[in-house]
Amino acid sequence: MTPKFYPPEPFRIKVTEPIRLISPAEREAALKEAGYNLFLMKAEDMFIDLLTDSGTGAMSSEQWAALMRGDESYAGARSFHRLKAAVEDVFGFKHFVPTHQGRAAENILAACLVKQGQYVPSNMHFDTTDANIRARGGRPTNLVIDEAFDPANPHPFKGNMDIAKLRAFIQKVGVEKIPFGMITVTNNAGGGQPVSMENIKAVAAVYREFNIPFFIDSARYAENAYFIKLREKGYENKSVIDIAREMYALADGMTMSAKKDAIVNIGGLLCMNDDALFQQVKNELILREGFPTYGGLAGRDLDAMAVGLYEGLDESYLASRLAQTAYLAARLNDAGIPTIQPAGGHAVYLDAAHVFPNIPQGEFPGQALAVELYREGGIRGVEIGSVMFAYPDPDSGKMIYPKLELLRLAIPRRTYTQSHMDYVADCAARIKSRADKVKGYKFTYAPELLRHFTARFDPL
Ligand code: F0G
Repeated sequence: MTPKFYPPEPFRIKVTEPIRLISPAEREAALKEAGYNLFLMKAEDMFIDLLTDSGTGAMSSEQWAALMRGDESYAGARSFHRLKAAVEDVFGFKHFVPTHQGRAAENILAACLVKQGQYVPSNMHFDTTDANIRARGGRPTNLVIDEAFDPANPHPFKGNMDIAKLRAFIQKVGVEKIPFGMITVTNNAGGGQPVSMENIKAVAAVYREFNIPFFIDSARYAENAYFIKLREKGYENKSVIDIAREMYALADGMTMSAKKDAIVNIGGLLCMNDDALFQQVKNELILREGFPTYGGLAGRDLDAMAVGLYEGLDESYLASRLAQTAYLAARLNDAGIPTIQPAGGHAVYLDAAHVFPNIPQGEFPGQALAVELYREGGIRGVEIGSVMFAYPDPDSGKMIYPKLELLRLAIPRRTYTQSHMDYVADCAARIKSRADKVKGYKFTYAPELLRHFTARFDPL
């Protein structure tokens, strides 16, 4: 049932950006021109853009002020040292480098550690992490708990890793084939679901037992920490920043896209404790990103991130953010559209296979729902299903389909209001009532890796 209370946002609006809904005929033409891939469409043709919560949030007045403090010195800028202080305070690792975004941190980590034929386990890798490991000849492996694949299951920590699976996996492939292990908080590919502190502790203990370095993919670590506060016994009275510190004390390093919970438009982090790895990372960073004190960013970006790291941990902000996501999910559920339960932190994941039971996985039901939502209301979401994750098995060559066919509606931070959420839910309800007439899609072009960004389709 729809929660009656939509908490007032703990901010007011100081700058506005107009949005407009183009006509149905214009929307149809725009879809056709983009090969029915919403990544290839113009932002100005979007009314409500829920493609991603990455880099799309609204910065605060303090962050805009911080931009003006940006020190653009090539080496040792004040901005770097302000960011360093914040990173050390929140995460506590011995070393860190800024990167231009999360995938750059993943690329550098994979370049330093992954060799042909090696495995990197996680609960679920996000697509860029998955692809960066594959690009080095590695095999990303997902070991999330089975509950994650049951969209209706209300497990409070559906992002948890299956500890028995992890242990069995390490014993099967052998420690020497695992250069490092990961966990993603929150688990974006599995519905923005949190990982419990208990589970992070258990994962860390297994990795430690086998001497496998443990890295946390931290894109939405603050939302994860707030879920721990709300849902895990013993954490209700701890501050979110202390919960975060407890999480990171268990790990050997982290990758982070700062475009999410650090509420900046661009930026990332790679942190670690190991001295030798840090040396290697700096060499790679200089080659690919920039000098270690700016790592592909401007000084002003580093300053905005330093402020954003703390704003992302603010509990009144987190309460409002998670309530907004839960509200949209509840309104969709009221309209008979199942979403991954419970609602995730940053996004609502619609069960496209349920909305379109007549469209098989090979004909991309999630993509069909993405196109329909744009057609109906100028709303942009992203398919997280077979377009993104169906790959041929490297051994057998047989196509492996993901277990879920989802459409993700990711909510940019501090950007949209309740009336926007109501509009989205109303549009989705209208699609549901004409679902039996909707058909699937076929590829007319698809690259080998990260297909969803550039693929083109024809309707069937
Ligand atoms: N890890 C996770 C869990 C992510 O969600 C993302 C990005 C990345 C790593 C890569 O970070 O984009 O800064 O290079 N997720 C975005 C999304 C793209 O829409 O979910 P990046």
